[in-house]
Amino acid sequence: MTAGGAGASDRPEPPDLSADLCGVALRNPVLLASGTCGYGTELAGLLDLREIGGFVAKSLTLEPRAGNPPPRITETPAGMLNAISLENVGVEAFIDEKLPALPEGVAVVASVFETEIERYGEVCRRLEGAPGVVALEINASCPHVKSGGIEFGQDPAVLASLVRACRASTGMKLLVKLSPNVTSIAEMARVAEGEGADGLSLINAMQGLAVDVERRRPALSNVLGGLSGPAIRPVALRMVYQAAQAVKIPICGIGGITSGEDAVAFLLVGASTVQVGTASYANPGAALEVRDGLQAYLERHGIARVRDLVGGLLS
Ligand SMILES: Cc1cc2nc3c(=O)[nH]c(=O)nc-3n(C[C@H](O)[C@H](O)[C@H](O)COP(=O)(O)O)c2cc1C
Repeated sequence: MTAGGAGASDRPEPPDLSADLCGVALRNPVLLASGTCGYGTELAGLLDLREIGGFVAKSLTLEPRAGNPPPRITETPAGMLNAISLENVGVEAFIDEKLPALPEGVAVVASVFETEIERYGEVCRRLEGAPGVVALEINASCPHVKSGGIEFGQDPAVLASLVRACRASTGMKLLVKLSPNVTSIAEMARVAEGEGADGLSLINAMQGLAVDVERRRPALSNVLGGLSGPAIRPVALRMVYQAAQAVKIPICGIGGITSGEDAVAFLLVGASTVQVGTASYANPGAALEVRDGLQAYLERHGIARVRDLVGGLLS
């Protein structure tokens, strides 16, 4: 032992941060949320994606799509409202151009959304076996044209058909990202589990509206937008808690996570992995800080494995 300090052998082992995303082994439980990190390449030089658990790419449709016209983002108290909508490069360009541009060893979750159930299934089929893609996340917050525009994730029967079709179209791991714009998240969680989802992601942004009173107009061209950021965290925690009580499949918790402690809260209420979204806009390194904060929490509390926190909320 060196004078005045503990020898290397006396230092406690760093905690085990490894996590399991519905059967996929991850370095740690922190991912970037869909739509807030593009296709991963946009963050080059700002965040090394190999240091976090992985990232969820912007939701993909069969064809490239343009989004809503501006203004489509506005700041709100403790968060933001966005109405980017379906803008993306399309599934083929994602496979041919975006995936090969990523460094080796990045865990990519491809997110899928469409306006019709059959098209969701087709996007899933095209992604089967895409290099680096470890799982698919089905974004159920897209308006379902045949139901008059309500979100797929807002009607139990429509959600069931969607998950069934996606399940039938691929053998890949399937996370279903639930819409928070529902009365009973537990019911939706059960529906997704019953149709073969391997895991759940929740929550997506919550429907909101901001008004520019000087112009007496909606702040966003689309009128309605999705609220995200710390403003929605207590709602997201409540929904993860309720979903975790309702199903056995693993949950990826999302909603206003900005620190290691926020991530801990999601793990305690039953999530086994988490995603960081809006926080990356103010600080592109936010997900790394969440990972470091998680590690510091485990060290502070003498907890050996991050998995030991999952569902550990005391009453
Ligand atoms: C600008 C923006 C774009 C988004 N695009 C998508 C998307 O394409 N697909 C999706 O499933 N979620 C999308 N989301 C929702 C986020 O993935 C996440 O579920 C939500 O923002 C809540 O997490 P947060 O509070 O950490 O941002 C988007 C969010 C923002 C802010």
